[in-house]
Amino acid sequence: MSDFTDLMRRRHTVRSFDQRPVEDEKLLAVLEAARWAPTAVNAQPQRILVLREPDSLDKVREFCTYGREGSNVSLAKDFDLPGTKHISLYYGAPVVLVVCYDRTACWSHPESGETSGPIDATIVATHMMLEATAQGLGSAWISYFDKDKARALLDIPADWEVCSMLYLGYPSAGERPAHASGTRCPLADTCFFDRVPTTDRVV
Ligand SMILES: Cc1cc2nc3c(=O)[nH]c(=O)nc-3n(C[C@H](O)[C@H](O)[C@H](O)COP(=O)(O)O)c2cc1C
Repeated sequence: MSDFTDLMRRRHTVRSFDQRPVEDEKLLAVLEAARWAPTAVNAQPQRILVLREPDSLDKVREFCTYGREGSNVSLAKDFDLPGTKHISLYYGAPVVLVVCYDRTACWSHPESGETSGPIDATIVATHMMLEATAQGLGSAWISYFDKDKARALLDIPADWEVCSMLYLGYPSAGERPAHASGTRCPLADTCFFDRVPTTDRVV
């Protein structure tokens, strides 16, 4: 197994973090991985907001409560930090990276107008997630939060689109991957050689 294959398989979503701070060198290595990500025409439109101060993390607690009235309430209860003022999907991460892109800085397809920003930002976040594993850190990719609330609370500039968040830190003692974490569909369900599957194929 290559080092990279091993790294990919070791990574899992961490939903319970220790309060031990992340060393600056490790955080910088993660941010450096973002810098080396490929982006369309090398425009590098990613804008990454690094949140570490208690006031900033309090804001995350506020805007990741989105959906708390729905089916995620049980998830929130399981993963909330004891003693915090909100039920949230914050998981206690000491570092939160808010991954955005600048709409005015990214490439757009000349005919369709489709912008590369979301793809660029996704590749950037993936680089950071894998580098976090290489640095011995845990991470969680978060899409389930209120982006409008995040924009308002964090004063995100109008030209920036908020794409995702990455929670970062050391896993708490006893943290284990979620039950379904290590399961993946067989290749035959998702990859097709030369022709797409016929409609009567039973998956
Ligand atoms: C685009 C994307 C969005 C995700 N959003 C969330 C989220 O909002 N909250 C969460 O707890 N996990 C989130 N995850 C983590 C996935 O649930 C997780 O990657 C998946 O269940 C596979 O588990 P693994 O990462 O442990 O291999 C997200 C992952 C991706 C790639």
